[in-house]
Amino acid sequence: MDILIVYATNSGGTYLAGQYIQDVLQEHGHQVVLKKAKDTTSQELGQYQVVIFGSPSWYVDGREGQMHWDMAKLLDAIPDALLHKKQCAVYGLGDNSYAYFCGAVDAIEIKLAQHNMQIVVPSLRINEFYYQPDANAADIKQWAHKLAGRVSNTPTQGRKKIPSSISETKEPAVIRLSKRLMVSIAFGLLLGVLFEHVVIGLLFGIGVGVLATSKKQDSV
Ligand SMILES: Cc1cc2nc3c(=O)[nH]c(=O)nc-3n(C[C@H](O)[C@H](O)[C@H](O)COP(=O)(O)O)c2cc1C
Repeated sequence: MDILIVYATNSGGTYLAGQYIQDVLQEHGHQVVLKKAKDTTSQELGQYQVVIFGSPSWYVDGREGQMHWDMAKLLDAIPDALLHKKQCAVYGLGDNSYAYFCGAVDAIEIKLAQHNMQIVVPSLRINEFYYQPDANAADIKQWAHKLAGRVSNTPTQGRKKIPSSISETKEPAVIRLSKRLMVSIAFGLLLGVLFEHVVIGLLFGIGVGVLATSKKQDSV
C-alpha cells in the first residue's frame, strides 16, 4: 500500500521514530514516504491509502500538551470530505513529567475524527524518547508491525479499486456477452462478404459467438 508518514519535530525525535516506522512498514512490502508536515499539502494526504501522523507535544500559546504548530496548520487546512474513511494512525512523543502527557496525540485524534478518518490501530505514545532509546525503539517497531498487519487486513473504503479483470467492471454480464456475440456475428459477416459466402460467414460468426459467450458465461 502507499503510505505517508507525515511528522513535525523540534529536536528530531519524532523524525527518528518516523524512520523506525518507515523501515518496518517497508519490510512488510509497503511503499512509504516520510515527510515533514510543513512540506506537505493537505491535498497530498488524499493521495495515499494510509496516512500516519506524528507529533511531539509542546507548550503552545500558554497551553501544555499541544500538537506541533506545523501539524496544526496542516490539519486545519484539510478540506471537508477529502479524507473521509481514509485509514490512518497516530504516534506522539512526550514526557510524562508534563501535566498533559502526549496531549498532541489526543488533539490529532480529535481532528481526524472530525474528518471521519478511520484510525486502524490504537495510537502510540512514547515517553522520553532520547532517555530510553532502546526500549522506545522496540516499542515503536512493535507498534509498526501491528499497524502493518492492520492496514493490510482492513478493507480500504473511499479508495477507488482498480479492476484486475473485465469481470470486475461495472457493466452487467448480459450486456458484455451480447456485445461479444454481436462482434462475432459482425466478424463472420465480414468474412462472408470477403469470400462471397454471406450465409456461411453468418453461420460461422454465430457459431463462434455462441461458443465464446458460453465459455465466458462459465467464468463470470
Ligand atoms: C517547552 C516544552 C514543552 C513540552 N510540553 C510537553 C507536554 O505538554 N506534554 C508532553 O507529554 N511532553 C512535552 N514536552 C516533551 C516533548 O514532547 C518531548 O521532549 C519530545 O520527545 C520532543 O519531540 P521532538 O524531538 O520530535 O521535538 C515538552 C518539551 C518542551 C521542551
